[in-house]
Amino acid sequence: MGCPPVALVLLLLMGGTARTGAAPSALPGHSIANPPDINLLAKMWQLTGTAMPSHSSLILTPGVADRVGTIFSRSALKTNDFEAQFTISAKPGISSFRGDGFAFWYSEENASDLLSAASTKHSHNQDELIAGTWYNHYVKLDLGEVGYKTHYKGLGVFFVKDEQGQSLLRVHYGDGEKTAGQQTALDIRNGEDHSVKIRVTPDSVTVTVESRGETRATVSSAMTLKSGGFIGFSCFGGTKESYNPKERSAFVEIKGLQVLNHAAGPGEDEMPSIAPAAPQGEKEDVLGAHSSFKEHRDESEAIKDLTNMIFKLVIESKPQREQMKASITALSKRVATVEETFRNLKAEIDKKTGHNLGAEFDAIKKELADMHATAHRDTDRRGKKLADLHSDIEHVHKTASSGGDISGDLDSLSKSNEQVLDQLTNQHQRMFGVSIFAIAFIIIAGLSLYNKFRCWEKKHVL
Ligand SMILES: *[C@@H]1O[C@H](CO)[C@@H](O)[C@H](O)[C@H]1NC(C)=O
Repeated sequence: MGCPPVALVLLLLMGGTARTGAAPSALPGHSIANPPDINLLAKMWQLTGTAMPSHSSLILTPGVADRVGTIFSRSALKTNDFEAQFTISAKPGISSFRGDGFAFWYSEENASDLLSAASTKHSHNQDELIAGTWYNHYVKLDLGEVGYKTHYKGLGVFFVKDEQGQSLLRVHYGDGEKTAGQQTALDIRNGEDHSVKIRVTPDSVTVTVESRGETRATVSSAMTLKSGGFIGFSCFGGTKESYNPKERSAFVEIKGLQVLNHAAGPGEDEMPSIAPAAPQGEKEDVLGAHSSFKEHRDESEAIKDLTNMIFKLVIESKPQREQMKASITALSKRVATVEETFRNLKAEIDKKTGHNLGAEFDAIKKELADMHATAHRDTDRRGKKLADLHSDIEHVHKTASSGGDISGDLDSLSKSNEQVLDQLTNQHQRMFGVSIFAIAFIIIAGLSLYNKFRCWEKKHVL
C-alpha cells in the first residue's frame, strides 16, 4: 500500500527536474515564423514604419535612408530566463549613412505604446516625411536610437557603427539614464544569413552570432533583467546631409524568430484564438481589418477608391482624347488641303479659259438684260410705226370717200390694209411673247447657274 505514493513522488520529482532542466518550452506568442503568419503578426505584434512582412521574410527596412521601422511584441514576456534566436540578413547599402543600424530589444516599457503615438504623428506623417522634419520630433521624443529610445530601460543588442564607422555588436543594459555593457567589432552586412542567439538569464546576457555554421562573435554582459519586458526589433536607415533617393542603406530582413522559455512558469499569456491564415494566393488586408482606425480607414478607403477611379478614368480616357484631338487636327488639315486644291482649280480654270468666272457671269447677266431692253425698245418702235401707218391710211380713206370715185377701191384697200395690220399685230404679239419667254428662260437659267456658283464660292469650293 506504500508503493503508489512513492511512485507518485518520483514521477513528480522527475517532472520537476525535466521542467527546470535542458528542455526549454517554445513561446509561440513571441515567435515569428518564416515567412511570417500575418494574422499572428497583426494580433501579437505592432509594426511601424518600414517594418513589414513579405512573402519570404519580415523586412525591417528595404534600405531607405531617413526612415525607421519597428516591430514590438504587444504582450509582455513573463520570464527573464529565455532565449531568442533569429536569422537575420543584411545586404550592404550603396552608400554609407550616419546612424544607420538595427537592434534587438527587451524593453521594460511597453514599446508599442510608446511608438504608436509617435509613429502616427511623425514617422507616418506624410507632410513631415516630405519636409524631412519627422526625425527631429523622434529625437525630441527620445526615439533617437535606431528607431527606439535613447534612454531605454532594459536590454539592447545593437548592430550599429561607431563614430569612426566601425561596425559593432553592442550588448548594453539601459536603466533609463545611461547604458553599460560589452561590445565587439562585427559587421554582418554582407548579405549572408546570420543566426543570432540571445540567451537572457536573470543576471547576464550572452549573444552569439553565427554564419555558415561558424561562430563570428560572442558577447557576454552581466546585467539584471526583470521579467515582464517587451521584445522587438528596430531599425533606422541613417541620415546624410544630402543624397540621391537612389542611394540605399542596408536592406535588413529577419527570417524567423523563435523564443524559448527556460524558466519553469508560463513564459507568456495564453495566446488569443487566431483565425487560420488565409489560403495561399488570397490577398487579405490583415493590418487594415485589425486596426483601431478601421472605421476611419473605411472612409478613407472610399475616398481612395474614388480617387483611384477618377485617376483611372483620366488615364484610360487619355488615348481616346488624344485620338479625338488627332482626328480633329487631321480633319482640319484635310479641309485646308481641299480648300487649297479648289483655289488652285479655280485659278487653273481662270487661266485655261482666260477669264474670271465671276466677272464672266456678271457680263452674261448684263448682256441678257440689255438684250431684253433692246427687244422691248424695238417692239415699241415697230408698234408705233404701225399705228402711224394705220392712222395715215384712215386719213387717206376719209379724203377719198369725200372725193367719191375711188372710194370702193379704197375701202377694199383699207380693209386689206386692216387685215395686214391685224396680221402684223398678231405676228408682232406672238413674236413678242416668244422673245419674252426666251429671255425669261435665259435669265432664269443664267441666274440659277450663277446662284450655284455663288453657293460653291460660299462653301469655299471655288
Ligand atoms: C502595450 O501597448 C499596446 C499599444 O498601446 C497595447 O495594445 C498592449 O495591450 C499593451 N500591452 C500591455 C501588456 O499592456
